[in-house]
Amino acid sequence: MTEPAHSDAKPIPFIDVEAQRRRLGAAIDDAIARVTEHCQFILGPEVRALEAELATFCGARHAVSCASGTDALVLVLMARGIGPGDAVICPSFTFCATAEVAALLGATPVFADVDEATFNIDPTSLERAIAKAKRLGLKPKAVIPVDLFGLPAEHAAIGEIAAAENIFILDDAAQAFGASYHGRPLGTFGLATATSFFPAKPLGCYGDGGAVLTDDDELAATLVSLRVHGQNATDKYDNVRIGLTGRLDTMQAAVLLEKLKIFPDEIAARNAAAERYGNALGNVAVVPRVPEGRTSVWAQYTIRVEPGRRAELADALKAEGIPTAIYYPKPLHRQGAYERFPYADGGLPVSDQLADEVISLPMHAYLDEPTQDRIIDAVHRALSR
Ligand SMILES: Cc1ncc(COP(=O)(O)O)c(C=O)c1O
Repeated sequence: MTEPAHSDAKPIPFIDVEAQRRRLGAAIDDAIARVTEHCQFILGPEVRALEAELATFCGARHAVSCASGTDALVLVLMARGIGPGDAVICPSFTFCATAEVAALLGATPVFADVDEATFNIDPTSLERAIAKAKRLGLKPKAVIPVDLFGLPAEHAAIGEIAAAENIFILDDAAQAFGASYHGRPLGTFGLATATSFFPAKPLGCYGDGGAVLTDDDELAATLVSLRVHGQNATDKYDNVRIGLTGRLDTMQAAVLLEKLKIFPDEIAARNAAAERYGNALGNVAVVPRVPEGRTSVWAQYTIRVEPGRRAELADALKAEGIPTAIYYPKPLHRQGAYERFPYADGGLPVSDQLADEVISLPMHAYLDEPTQDRIIDAVHRALSR
């Protein structure tokens, strides 16, 4: 192990967007310049080109781009007429948008617990949440599994439960576009998949953006209408449903088209970094393991430590210029806006436990080995005290 880094050591970025920018700089600037020249800022040619590329990338029939990952989720629920009296089951240990979209439409999010090893929705708890919704007189309509931190959820078991209960699956792959489950890329599970291009995501743009992937022709057509105020496909001044302004900007599409070219390479680099972390940290913390048959895009590299030691670890790393983050310090069913919503019988003990134990380390495609070793050594020093 190396000597402790001095406190004046160069700070390490949590996500190195600049390193990627250096790699892509000229290509992205040229792509943006093309948009400023043709001036088709709304639904310009780059948007259509990106949608074709996204669909090909994951093998879905349709990609409908939109203004954010949150819009991607809400548009699908709107298309399916989700509203008051409906229950939408989702994990509690996730980013708020997963449940927010159901609540926004007047439906009831019902929380399920997650699996300790994968951080993703626990199929047994999903069944309990459906039963709870029915007992409360709600109509279970959908489940939103989340592929948290880039790792696909247990899609086979979730698919079986959804089919048996006649509910649809809206996969929240905001953090996991590019990952796969038993050889099938995310984007092809359930009715539809939502993803986000928020800059910190594995495939991020230079602002907000998102997309829905689906094989369902009718749903895709409805989403295209909904993202532009519910307009008629053939007459834009005839609005046939209530929608929103939910389009992806042409400039963001231009940025994403360039980033998509290097995305497979970046996914490989993230996996190499995750493997090095896993090999080096497994003896001092609980490190994430990818279950057989799945691949992750490592949106976050999240370890677990004893609850009492987490703040100490974060402080020790901070003193050495190493940032950390806690995703998520409070599960949704404990947050002010969501505590009134029901959750599976028996409580959500794993979500509660993870919220006390998780801590994420710097992770991106440009994490070079010396920098990563500095992080690894600092974690060892802090946790071996
Ligand atoms: C799991 C999850 N769902 C949904 C979203 C929402 O995406 P966006 O921020 O693009 O609206 C995010 C992103 O932060 C997320 O992490």
